[in-house]
Amino acid sequence: MSKTIIISNRLPLQIKIEEDEISVSQSVGGLATGMKSVHEDGDSLWIGWSGLTEEEITDTTRDKVQKEIEKNKCAMVPLSEDDVDHFYYGFSNKTLWPLFHYFMEYTTFEQENWESYKRVNQKFADVVLDHVEDGDTIWVHDYQLLLLPNYIKQKKPDTNIGFFLHIPFPSYEVFRTFPWREEVLEGMLGADLIGFHTYDYERHFLSCVRRLIHLETNFNEISYDDRIIKVDSFPMGIDYDKFYNAALAHENMNGDEKSDIQKRLDEHLYSSDDAKMILSIDRLDYTKGIPNRIKAFEYFLEKYPEYQQKVRLIMLAVPSRSNVPQYQLLKRETDELVGRINGKFSTVSWTPVWYFYRSLPFDNLIDLYTSCDVAMITPIRDGMNLVAKEYVATRVKQDGVLVLSEMAGASKEMNEALLINPNNFEAIADKLKQALEMPKEEQKERITSMQARLKRYSVEKWAEEFFTALNTSKTVRN
Ligand code: UDP
Ligand code: G6P
Repeated sequence: MSKTIIISNRLPLQIKIEEDEISVSQSVGGLATGMKSVHEDGDSLWIGWSGLTEEEITDTTRDKVQKEIEKNKCAMVPLSEDDVDHFYYGFSNKTLWPLFHYFMEYTTFEQENWESYKRVNQKFADVVLDHVEDGDTIWVHDYQLLLLPNYIKQKKPDTNIGFFLHIPFPSYEVFRTFPWREEVLEGMLGADLIGFHTYDYERHFLSCVRRLIHLETNFNEISYDDRIIKVDSFPMGIDYDKFYNAALAHENMNGDEKSDIQKRLDEHLYSSDDAKMILSIDRLDYTKGIPNRIKAFEYFLEKYPEYQQKVRLIMLAVPSRSNVPQYQLLKRETDELVGRINGKFSTVSWTPVWYFYRSLPFDNLIDLYTSCDVAMITPIRDGMNLVAKEYVATRVKQDGVLVLSEMAGASKEMNEALLINPNNFEAIADKLKQALEMPKEEQKERITSMQARLKRYSVEKWAEEFFTALNTSKTVRN
């Protein structure tokens, strides 16, 4: 029977080894949380990196690791410490990630990292080729694997290959600065279908293909050698029912079942009639606009002092890529800003920012989503942003307000949110006030429309539409 092979750098599960014992955790990030539902429901094999380097796996632990991987319908690509340094931290996260998010001043171009990127993409191809059988469909994900579609296509020309980019594709003016631009475009063109979250990213990609490698494009099709490659936008959804149902169950929970976090959130909410909470959740990443958000919140408290001692910002920042210097600097800046605002405004019974630097299990995420009156999501640049969608999905009483950056892909589908420019503190402060004072009727209207859209265009639907387009692209080719 034919299967789907999902390939991403990070597997949905991450393994750690301590004293010959393995422990398993769930991967964080939109790609992993979204694709996990697709993987669980279908007949698929997921190929990727376990989070362990080859040097960490000993003879005694190899079997245990292998069993855990197989139990989750996965296969492992072995990465060495050197690969993790140069391919993962180096090329993926010091070159492609900042460049594609328009952080050109953070972007480095190192030949050694590029060599490693090619080598590791080839390692992924070798594992895929070990597992692929006639009739299988291949779905490659994200910026760490831009060369992989072509490496597979060279060896298996008849296999149907889809590629999806989970981050923005930058405009031609930015992409043209990249030294290996032609190779990367050709790598992606090994796929039969190339998908992006938004029409803008798709347009940028097509423009680069035309101007940098001079291929002919006809609407959203590219002629390349004897193939026709389709390019389209597929805005990724969430597992709507999972979030909605978890929030419903949370609603009916009795006092004893509440988590410690929930009890602390309740304490604040019950402290006065007009106590409110604002939520933000993201990986600690410079694209997410975390310092801007804290500064904007500080400005809000100064501009509208009547909200002091009433409103609290609950900020969950998940540790991410902490070997990259820019992430270390961001951590320091965030700690300092939180310290500054808390030092400036705190009273005996109130601190303006509650800051958690860790990842939380699903149930605690539901505690946060369901308890906060406003979600404040202010990325400087973000491919999609699933947190915005998850917040809306958990509002089972159809209340709550989403304040969302125009720079997030999600803003294209969430017009009923209060959209802001993350660099405009004045506008953020005013929108926050509008959010906190929004009449219940208006909240309901906005949330209801967004929920209907999120329910209809769930992650299952997203995957289904991608596969349908991939299968038709094969028909076009024959
Ligand atoms: N998330 C998680 N654990 C946490 C915090 C967040 O699993 O402690 C999940 C969250 O539910 C969401 C994803 O991480 O599905 C973040 O995806 P998003 O698209 O917002 O941003 P990304 O991290 O992919 O840039
Ligand atoms: C984003 C990227 C994913 C990545 C995730 C977590 O969602 O699009 O490809 O897996 O961040 O980042 P990490 O570097 O920890 O895998």
